[in-house]
Amino acid sequence: MFYKTDVLIIGSGIAGLYSAIKISEFADVVLVTKKEKSESNTNYAQGGIASVLDPNDTFANHIKDTLIAGAGLCDEKSVEILVKEGPGKINELIDIGTGFTLKDGKLDLVREGGHSFNRIVHAKDLTGKEVERALIEKASKSPNIRIIENTLAIDLITEHNVTGLKHLPISSRHCWGAYVLENESGHVIKVTSRATILATGGIGQVYYHTTNPPIATGDGFAMAYRAGAKMGNMEFIQFHPTSFYDPNPKSKSSHSFLISEAVRGFGGILRNSSGEAFMEKYDVRKELAPRDIVARAIDTEMKKRGDEYVFLDVTHKHKAEIIDHFPHIHANCLNKGIDITNEFIPVVPAAHYICGGVCVDEFSRSSLTGLYAVGEVSMTGVHGANRLASNSLLEALVFAQRAADDIKKNIKDFPVCHEEIPDWDDSGTLSADEKVLITHGVRELKQLMSDYVGIVRSNLRLEFASRRINLLYHEIEEFYKITKVFDSLIELRNLVTSGYLIVKSALLRKESRGLHYTLDYPTPDDSKTPEDTLIQNTYQKS
Ligand code: FAD
Ligand code: SIN
Repeated sequence: MFYKTDVLIIGSGIAGLYSAIKISEFADVVLVTKKEKSESNTNYAQGGIASVLDPNDTFANHIKDTLIAGAGLCDEKSVEILVKEGPGKINELIDIGTGFTLKDGKLDLVREGGHSFNRIVHAKDLTGKEVERALIEKASKSPNIRIIENTLAIDLITEHNVTGLKHLPISSRHCWGAYVLENESGHVIKVTSRATILATGGIGQVYYHTTNPPIATGDGFAMAYRAGAKMGNMEFIQFHPTSFYDPNPKSKSSHSFLISEAVRGFGGILRNSSGEAFMEKYDVRKELAPRDIVARAIDTEMKKRGDEYVFLDVTHKHKAEIIDHFPHIHANCLNKGIDITNEFIPVVPAAHYICGGVCVDEFSRSSLTGLYAVGEVSMTGVHGANRLASNSLLEALVFAQRAADDIKKNIKDFPVCHEEIPDWDDSGTLSADEKVLITHGVRELKQLMSDYVGIVRSNLRLEFASRRINLLYHEIEEFYKITKVFDSLIELRNLVTSGYLIVKSALLRKESRGLHYTLDYPTPDDSKTPEDTLIQNTYQKS
């Protein structure tokens, strides 16, 4: 069985849906997504989208804040594109029916860490859900978009799948679509396309504590790496400072509930177990310092005091205001037994976002002809070594538009494969009768990544991680080769590959910068320029 389309999009978060809407204006789109279409990181986004929308704010301010957060590693051209093209994208979201929160008839703009101005547009504290709703509604109306749910992309199709072309070097590779698994039937379908967009989101499930839902298994990073695309800066894992600490060991959840940075923007104060506000010891910007600084400060306080969490306190704010601004957070905490209007919220840092990924240019083009990467899976250079709060949803919109523009211009000229692309071949493989190996593999990976590749790193910890993950990587690859594919096996393979890339990248960086902090090199190496390959860690499968 196979599908043929102009453009294949993998993923139905903000990046995939917005790309689909734009491309459907001139071409046919097949969009595959591994669960229900709304299930994505996007759907859980709380704080909002950063953009210069107040006449007193300036592009220069937003650019400067983004560059400062990025700790010397941002691509300045990409940042300028992001900031200048941002307001138009917000207006488009409004045009398609996104209901952002208003105040006195105007957009209610709030502040988050690292921003020098109130510039976050939001829909109460459920921004992502509202954006996702509006995009799905718009995409569903287009006759040129076919959304296929519960269908998991396994691997990209390139020369390495085609017998007569296998010998060609990676540098001349094209992407011609993907093999995808229909979860329900277990059938693997070949989808061929002129252009393919990876919009598969993040990687949070590599760690035990993460704000990311179960779909965030790093599939896009692993598929792109296996296909030979250039990858970069995978060591920059952003730990969000404040995820809810659930003291109840019985309430096992695949991901931690986020307490939005907007709560700190609203005046929330971080306190240790003695009730002392501690952020002023670490940074003059206190609770509104960039995330890497706040997360490290919390980690230090917890380690010094032997505590498992710190507190976020909004009890000094008016009850009605708290509930009005954060109805979802208030209700969720209440459900867990904490009334945030008169009790401190227990919080811990949790893996939240990855700044590196598939290297792309300003039109979201990867190093493989015909393959684009948009959203969290991509490395546009916008975030450098640390992402500024609420710049991610904006990046997805701006660079999805640019991918669509480039595809429109070039689609007729994309080379087609002149040899026959084979169907999926699983002869010689067996159905797995030991699925417990998957559960164990996931547990082992999360444990080693959390223990050795967390907020504070060292050569010793990374070398421990590297030895263990290499073993796991090879074991899973062997198991994969002899087994009929199923969803959790594919995801474990991708999780392990993603973890492997994070460790490999972390070992290459001999300095501390932004989100990568190592005890062995505690300061940035300022003898390098952002163009140096070490400072931008890039690598390709050989
Ligand atoms: P996603 O939204 O994660 O979508 C990925 C899609 O790909 C999903 O549909 C998934 O099912 C699908 N997929 C994955 N692998 C496969 C596969 N193999 N085959 C088929 N489909 C696949 N950023 C902000 O800017 N502002 C915020 O306020 C904000 N709040 C956040 C709050 C939380 C709790 C989290 C987790 C993140 C938050 N972020 C925020 C970050 C932001 O939400 C994400 O970076 C952004 O939504 C990523 O969008 P995306 O489209 O790239 O990926
Ligand atoms: C949040 O609401 O704190 C998340 C914002 C972000 O990740 O940009």
